[in-house]
Amino acid sequence: MNTKILILNGPNLNLLGRRQPEVYGSTTLADIVDGLRDSFPSVDIVHFQSNCEGALIDKIHEVGYDDSYAGIVLNAGAYTHTSLAIADAIAAIERPVVEVHLSNVFAREEIRHRSLIAPVCRGSISGFGVQSYHLAVQALISDRR
Ligand code: DQA
Repeated sequence: MNTKILILNGPNLNLLGRRQPEVYGSTTLADIVDGLRDSFPSVDIVHFQSNCEGALIDKIHEVGYDDSYAGIVLNAGAYTHTSLAIADAIAAIERPVVEVHLSNVFAREEIRHRSLIAPVCRGSISGFGVQSYHLAVQALISDRR
């Protein structure tokens, strides 16, 4: 059976392609997921997006104890900077989580410099646009144990 990886996207990322393209680029979320499936044909790329904190937490719980997953690639959007509940969910589970951001959050407003989830993630990738997701998938595959 192929290794699975969950691509988990938080609030407003459903609007990629239309949302502030000067910051986030013109690629849609569907195109990002298709690109990952093309680049990693031996990985079962599972995708979930929600604008709701609780739905994201439910998904982290569901996948977080499932050994068929190498881990979770998480772009938590603005919840990165605010959600202790998502940080607690990541700390609770067994599977590794890689934090990703399209933009370089450290080159933006100060409020985006703080990530509540970074300390409980396996690692963080920020600022490489769509490539951030590819690097995160590659990291989870290389790190699989
Ligand atoms: C983001 C950065 C966050 O600060 C922002 O709230 C987002 C997107 C990124 O991918 O660059 O929604 O996570």
